[in-house]
Amino acid sequence: MSDASLKRPGPQQRAAGPGQAAHAPDRAQPARAGHGTGAQAVPVPAIDIEARQVAKRFGDTQIFSDVSFRLERGRATALVGANGAGKSTLLRCLMGLIPVSGGEVRLLQQTATQARPAALRALRARVGLVSQKHNIVPRMSVLSNVLHGLLGQQGGPRHWSHVLAPAQSRAQAMQALEKVGLAHLALRRADRLSGGQSQRVAIARAIVSRPEVLFADEPCASLDPQAGEDVMDLFFDLARRDGVTVVFTSHNIDHALRYGDRVLGLADGRMRLDATASSLHESDLRGLYD
Ligand SMILES: Nc1ncnc2c1ncn2[C@@H]1O[C@H](COP(=O)(O)OP(=O)(O)O)[C@@H](O)[C@H]1O
Ligand SMILES: [Mg+2]
Repeated sequence: MSDASLKRPGPQQRAAGPGQAAHAPDRAQPARAGHGTGAQAVPVPAIDIEARQVAKRFGDTQIFSDVSFRLERGRATALVGANGAGKSTLLRCLMGLIPVSGGEVRLLQQTATQARPAALRALRARVGLVSQKHNIVPRMSVLSNVLHGLLGQQGGPRHWSHVLAPAQSRAQAMQALEKVGLAHLALRRADRLSGGQSQRVAIARAIVSRPEVLFADEPCASLDPQAGEDVMDLFFDLARRDGVTVVFTSHNIDHALRYGDRVLGLADGRMRLDATASSLHESDLRGLYD
């Protein structure tokens, strides 16, 4: 199946936040296809994430192998598969959180699989993650929890608590809370929030550093259906507004097709599906990945 019918034109230029300009000057330069043929040059979307024959084993257990794909900037890709298929493991490999057993991952034009620790930290600071379990620190304020999203870029204890945080960081965290509609709860203790509110705090924490790539691992799996829909709508609104590249896992076929531009399916240790969401129907996936 081809990618030619992807729904949206990819944003060639992303509105860079003040924190991005320094590390991403090249991101506004689309690559060009064709050399000196006289034909009009066609802009080729930049590739933010590339897996090249990636394999992962835990001990003697092969989780997947020969996984290859290229994900374009500004697109949302759904990664589907049955429970235990390896979706979370693949996400962690793409982020450089765990080593691959074979192959190579390129993230934001850098080889994540061979990066030195400092380079990997710098790379991860350009990436956000929303997990199924929001991992909010319960006894701290909502605002402090959002500030934790800046720790990757601006380490040090001052970003642990809103009391110590520099004014500019606090303002940035408040902006992120405004985006998820929770500015009025900034000083509330995080363990006083509902599940849906907690997940919105986790989204604010993931976007506060203005990441170029967002990973989401079953971002609404622990929520009731209505709160889950609200969280998905909010997450994808924010990601699309900023032209962020998104990879999310889901075992909800409807979500995969609705929020993804492209759907990748893991089964039997291989990537068995790679298709545009618009070319698929629920019935193509039902049973296989539910
Ligand atoms: N750290 C680990 N050590 C050993 N096995 C693991 C580890 N993490 C995951 N697995 C195994 O890898 C397989 C894939 O897990 P996972 O990526 O969580 O699947 P999914 O997210 O698709 O449900 C499962 O069989 C799981 O038990
Ligand atoms: Mg998982």
